[in-house]
Order: sequence, then C-alpha cells, then structure tokens
Amino acid sequence: MSAGVSFDKSKNSLSRHRSVWEMRSESWIGLVDDLSRLVALPPDHPERQSRLAHINELIAALVPIESYWAFPGGRVFADLCSWIERGELARAHQTARRIHRVLVARTYRHEASSLEGEGELPSQIETESERQAQLSRPYFEVLIVDEMSASEEAALRRRVQRKRHAEDEFVFDIVIVPSFEDALIATLVNFNLQAVVIRHGFPFRSIYSDDMLRRFLDGVQDGIETIPEFERGPLLGRQIARLRPELDLYLVTDMKVEDIAATAGEVFKRIFFGEEDHVELYGAIMQGVGERYHTPFFDALRDYAKQPTGVFHALPLARGKAILNSSWIGDLSQFYGMNLFMAETSATSGGLDSLLDPVGPLKIAQEHAARAFGARRTYFATNGTSTCNKIVVQALVRPDDIVLVDRNCHKSHHYGLVLAGAQVAYLDSYPLDQYSMYGAVPIRHIKEQLLTFKRAGTLDRVRMVLLTNCTFDGIVYDVERVMLECLAIKPDLVFLWDEAWFAFARCHPVYRPRTAMATAARLAEMFKDPSYAKRYEEFAASVDWDDEEALLERQLIPDPDKVRIRAYATHSTHKTLTALRQGSMIHVWDQDFRDKAEEAFHEAYMTHTSTSPNYQILASLDVGRRQVELEGYELVQRQLELAMNLRDQVQAHPLLKRYFRFLAVGDLVPLQHRESGVESYFNEETGWNNFELAWRTDEFALDPTRATLAIGATGLDGDTFKNKELMDKYGIQINKTSRNTVLFMTNIGSTRSAVAYLIEVLVKIARDLDRRAADMSSIERRIHAKKVRSLTLEHPPLPDFSSFHRAFRGDNLTSNTQTRNGDIRSAFFLSYDDSNCEYVNMMEASRAIQAGRELVSALFVIPYPPGFPILVPGQVISMEILQFMSALDVHEIHGYRPDLGFRIFSEEALARTEERTLAKTTVIQAQQEAMQN
Ligand SMILES: Cc1ncc(COP(=O)(O)O)c(C=O)c1O
Repeated sequence: MSAGVSFDKSKNSLSRHRSVWEMRSESWIGLVDDLSRLVALPPDHPERQSRLAHINELIAALVPIESYWAFPGGRVFADLCSWIERGELARAHQTARRIHRVLVARTYRHEASSLEGEGELPSQIETESERQAQLSRPYFEVLIVDEMSASEEAALRRRVQRKRHAEDEFVFDIVIVPSFEDALIATLVNFNLQAVVIRHGFPFRSIYSDDMLRRFLDGVQDGIETIPEFERGPLLGRQIARLRPELDLYLVTDMKVEDIAATAGEVFKRIFFGEEDHVELYGAIMQGVGERYHTPFFDALRDYAKQPTGVFHALPLARGKAILNSSWIGDLSQFYGMNLFMAETSATSGGLDSLLDPVGPLKIAQEHAARAFGARRTYFATNGTSTCNKIVVQALVRPDDIVLVDRNCHKSHHYGLVLAGAQVAYLDSYPLDQYSMYGAVPIRHIKEQLLTFKRAGTLDRVRMVLLTNCTFDGIVYDVERVMLECLAIKPDLVFLWDEAWFAFARCHPVYRPRTAMATAARLAEMFKDPSYAKRYEEFAASVDWDDEEALLERQLIPDPDKVRIRAYATHSTHKTLTALRQGSMIHVWDQDFRDKAEEAFHEAYMTHTSTSPNYQILASLDVGRRQVELEGYELVQRQLELAMNLRDQVQAHPLLKRYFRFLAVGDLVPLQHRESGVESYFNEETGWNNFELAWRTDEFALDPTRATLAIGATGLDGDTFKNKELMDKYGIQINKTSRNTVLFMTNIGSTRSAVAYLIEVLVKIARDLDRRAADMSSIERRIHAKKVRSLTLEHPPLPDFSSFHRAFRGDNLTSNTQTRNGDIRSAFFLSYDDSNCEYVNMMEASRAIQAGRELVSALFVIPYPPGFPILVPGQVISMEILQFMSALDVHEIHGYRPDLGFRIFSEEALARTEERTLAKTTVIQAQQEAMQN
C-alpha cells in the first residue's frame, strides 16, 4: 500500500510531482495555461502542434485521477475532452478555467451545485449566505464499487439527487468505480470520501496501468484475482478498513445477507440485500457520517450557553457576569467574545457532565474518542500529557515495581516514577553525537535489560516498559516488534507509550501501524490466529532460553497462551491535532483493565485531575476528535507534502545548501537500525516509495514532518540561531534546538505560505551570513572558522546513564547479577534535608572524582538544550557527564547553580543510607528465603 505516489521519469513526463494531488493540481494549471495560449495563437502558428501534444499528455494523466473524484465528474470531463478534440478551444478553455477555480476554492462542496446537474458548473462562493449554507451542510462523497454502464451510472446519480431533502444534515455526491483495485486507489486518493458502498460482484483489475496510481496498490497480495466474486466484497471491505478505518462501509449483496453478516459483519456498518433497501441505505449513510460529526460534549456546552440560568455557584466569570458588571475588565470579553464566558460554568448537570464521574455527554465523547483512536477506552485530561503520564504510572506501578524507562523521556515520567516509588531502570537511547541529540532505545538493549533481570531472579517485579514514540526529533519505534520481543521474555508486561507528539499518526495509513493502539489491536488478532500458534510452536522448539547472545540476535515472539496485551498511550492532542492547550487523552488497550487496573486507574485519575476541569478544553477535545474522523487523513497527508516540499526546497537552493541541510533518516537512524537501507524518504527517482518501505520494515523510522536543520556551517549554535536570528529578527517560533541543529515542526495547520516565509527567511539569513563573512577581519575569520569547526567536527560524546549509587540500589545490592534499577524516590526525598547535601562546582567535582570520591547527584540536572536529565537523584556523576556538560556551552541548566555547582549528597548521608538499604535488603532476602523453604 502506498499513500504517497512517485513517478518513473522514463514513463511519465510528470515525474517532478511529489504526489498524485500535486500532479492533479498542476495538471489543471497546465491545462488552463496551454488552452489559453492556444486560443490566442493563429491557426497556422508552428507552436500549435506542440501545445496540443502537451494538452493531450495532461488530459491522459488526468483521466484516471478524475475518475476517483465526484467533481468535475465523468460527464463534464468527457465534454471538455471532446471540445478539445473538436477544436472548440475557447469553450474548452473557459470550462477548464472554471473547473480549476472551483477545485481550488473547493466550491463544488457547495450544496446547491455540487452535482453535475445539467452540465452546469458551480459558481464561486461569493456571498455570506452561500458560505453559511456550505458550513451548515457539510459535503462529502460516497464511493460506490460496482461495474455499471454509463446510463446505469446516470440513473443512480439521479436517484441519489431525488432523495435529497432540505432537512438533510449533509449533502453528498457519489463516485462510481468499477473494480477492486480502483476502489483501493480511490480510497487513498479521494479525501472527500466518508462512506463506501460495495455492491455485489465486480472485477478485480483496474483498466488503468498508470505507474503512479498502481503504487497505491503495493502490498495487495497476489492471487487475489482467483478469489470468487462473492468473497471480493468482504475482502475489499477489510482492506479499506485497514487503510481508512474511519470510513463507513456498506455491502449490498444478492447472496444470503445473514451468512455474510455472520462472517463480515464486523467490517461493514450494514449489509443490505439487493436493491430493496435504497431508502435505508441513503439514511444509513447520512446517519453514519452524523455519528462522527456529532460532538456530544461540545453540543451540550453550546446548548447550555443558550439557556437562561441563574448562577448561585462558584465562578463569577460564568456567563460573563463579572465582566459585564465591571467598569475595568470589559476588554476581556471584547477580545474573546461573550460565547467563551456563556460556556463557562461549574455546573455538572443541566445537560453537562462531570469529568470525574462521567455519565452523560462527556462519557459519550470519550467513547467516540476511543473509536476514533482505536482504543478500548479513552480518558480526557485537561492538564496535558504531563498529567496523563503520571496517572498511568500511578495506576499501574506499585512501590518497588521495576520500570524500564527511556532516560531521555519527558520529565513528567521521572516525577511520576518518584511519586509511585518505582525502582527505575534507565534505558540508553543510541547517541547521535554529531548533532548532540539522542535517538531512541534499540530493542536489543531493552531485551538485554530484561534478560539481566531474569538472570538476577527479579523479572517477576518488572512491571512496565515506558518509551517515547515518537521522540521530539521524530524517531519512531517499530511498536509491534518491541511488544512482541518484550512479551516473549515477560508475557504480562505493561507498556506505556508516550505518544505526546504522535496523536496525528492515527489518521494516516503509513503512520498508523506504528501507534500503540493499532499495534495492540493487531496483536490481539494475530494471537488468535491459528497460524500464529503454529509459528510459535516452531519458534519454541528452536529457541534456547539459556543462550542470551542468541536471544539478543534473533527476533523473539510470545506464547499466545500466556501473553496479555496491556498497552497505554498518552496523547498531547493539543500538540498535533485540534485542541486547546493542555487538551490531552489517555488511550487504553488493556485486556486486564477490568480485573487488574480499573480501580487503581480511577484512583490515579482522581489524584491528578482537577475537580474544576476546564470545559472549553474538553469541548475542544471533542471537536478535535470529529476532525480526526472526518478529515484527519487529508490534513496529515497535506502536512507530509508540505514538509517534503520544505526539505526539497532547501536541498535544491544553491545558497541555502551552503549553510543548511535538513537531516534525513540516514543521519538520524544508524544503519544497523535501518533494515531497508533507505537513506532518505524522497528523491526524484523513486518518489516516496522509500518512505513507505522504510516505515514498513525498519526498527526505527523518521517522521518527516519534523524537520531537523543542521546549521553548524553558519558558525551559530542552535540557541543563538533560534533566538537571535529566527525569533528576534523574523518572528519565527521553534521549539527545540541542539548544539548545531534547530527543529522545525510542521503540523496539520501549517500552510504553504508559512513554508514559503520560512524559506524566504532562511535565504535572508544566508545572505546576511555571506555579507558578514565578506566583512570579517582576518582575526574574525579565524574565530569564525574555529566556531564552524567546533560545531561541525568536534562533537562532545553524549554520556550513557552511569549508575545509581549503592545507597539507592536496594535489592540488587547483594545479588551477583547487577541490574540497573534504583530507588529514585528515596534519593529524591533525601535531598529535601539540606544537611544531607553539599555543593561542588565543575572543577571541584572533576578533582574529587579523579581522587576517587563517588559524587552522587541529589537533583535532576537538565541542560536546555538538549532537555533530558543528564543526572537524576541518586545517580553517580561520571567524568563523561562532566566532560559533556563543560562542552555543552549552554546557559540554562536546571538543577545546576552556576554560583554553587552540583547539589550532591554528603558522604555521611550516603553511608547512612547505604547501611539502611543493606539492612532492609538483608531482611527482605531472609524473608524471601524463609518463604521459599
Ligand atoms: C514526550 C513528551 N511527553 C509528554 C510531554 C508533556 O505534554 P504536555 O505539554 O501535554 O503536558 C511532552 C511535552 O513536550 C513531551 O515532549
């Protein structure tokens, strides 16, 4: 399957296009342009022939693409082609120009004129009432899969038109495709689709052999052609559901509906028998889209805002009262508008609901969100993913449970683990020294740690693996592989996937398989499949659990009879989708939730959730979910194209490429974690094919919508570039920098103009750098060259996690097998007492370590950038860590005071704690031994 498309230069003159959508748009531009020139040329002008040839090429490229969209529709497009053929060029030009305008302005979505009608084209939206009409009756398209003659098609269209009713909530048009392959292509090409009606009996192959379109079919198994016709409908349904699970699918069949419903009912929203249920089908389509469109909590809040109420409650701001009565703060409502305050209330009744115990619209809104994100349950949160992470950790981790966690994770996890009293075993991500950033945690390292716990006899206490997917810089795990291999070693492990930056991934067929929820659902299916049981039998017969090296080398799979699927994902919906700041969600796919987690989850949710959650944030989550289900795919695909475009432009620009380079997957994921060998996701020769291949196969993939720009050649460090150049001079905001990179994130709201502005700014900065270089004195030139050399060639190696000091190592202190876990909570609270701590500056620290003293950090030490804790409470300070910190040249280091230095534990405090830990461990071990005897 391919969601983007690429072009073979040798076969297609349109190879420069990045995607089918870009090609469509540019072909129309080209067509209008060529026709306009042709109209102006005298009949015997020598240029006519070449123009006509080009027009025919464009038409040939558009014919298949247009067959997948309702507008302009087959008849109008055929008319246009015949006018060109007959030489009625002025007429063709006028029509092509109008079609193009309507496509750009998307006015075909206007309800009054969305169908072809009498060959009339819709006009531009000009008046406010037209705009309102469009907004109040959203438009969508329905794909009909059936082999029909032209007259049957026309009759069906007329029938659909006749069914329209003034009271309908939406208006839809139909697209008819004749085959299995065309249906799959249309599913991926046409963003306007909301429903698919699969009729009984249709051929497999598309008549179009266009390379670019056929790439959408990659991954469709060979041999499908031999499947009997009556099974094709259900099979097609399953394939479409995999690509775009949000679409409503209907099957119309002449077979025994009851039998088909029993086998394929899950995929189809409804199954109809023959032609008997036209009216029902029309109603079902409207209702299906309505279910996704409706936003129960937002709707309830709007209704509430309209009701007259008397407020004898908290919140003077509710219904704007405290503002309307005021002589001084009227500008608040002038700025925000009164609706914000009309919708502010502390009431949980009167049609509203309580987040802490939802039974009404919030409950339904959360159920809808679970559907949209493929979770079994979803919980809304109004204090960001920082809170979501703490809730999940508290709910699932008991004091002294061991948690394997990526050290490079967000600080909310470290604090959450302190609160939970977990034994924390930090995992090391692979380092990217040359860019001063970390990648992600290799599966081999995670397995190594699990096997060490096994050897030490404490595997039963390993409770959770906690990883960030994707990382800030866009590194994405192969979630399935991580879960399979870890569950093979410990079948009841819980996974917390921090998808703070990855909520949007659900919307796109290339991204979706690497999300926690999609993976959990897939694994559940896989473990039920008898072919998996057979695969496991073969694996079990060949595996030697005592040969650790071999276990690290091969891919492990879990025992289907023992494995439990317990996955949690936290989303900062507000970061990548539509939601007000702090709007986040927790998604749960846990087979044991009811039995083993629900009560604790409830308590954890109560611990961290405000009793006054913000209704506007909750309403925005509800609406954000609607957007995901109705236009998420389109928005993410456009975001991807925009990001690729940004990358291309910088790569191709002679001035920009002297100073800047966007890092490709080859720069950010070492080859041993890139089985595909793909270095870059897009190039002129193979188009986007690399992207999909790599995302299917590699241990780590790169999210190309996060574009890391290497800027070392400018001689400016990331921080200076961000603040002094981008922000101060041009008002461009970015979030993350490293020593020699800055990260530009695109999102579903990014626009072409924003990308154009960024390129313009980069060009200005590059010109400025050229000018500055020309004006440098010889000394300045030497200093500049030194800075460039330092940023591009001299890279401080990133340190790994050193170790917890013995005082905080608890039960692994006396074991022969040293595991990594440490009691971070005790260290954290030990530092609350000043008398346990002292300060050492960098120089003193270095001298003390060289003299053989173990220095132990009392605090989290987090330099910005890179923004991960270089030290955690209880961690031994190593020389590597000191060297890295002194090479960092950053000004903001949380937990390190420039005037005093590191806050460390005194030797006495460490000795006392170590003694206590040893005593406690000895008692526990004695108890364990006694129990065993
Ligand atoms: C990986 C990760 N997890 C969690 C968070 C916290 O999310 P929020 O800002 O929604 O609290 C962040 C914030 O940047 C993050 O990067």
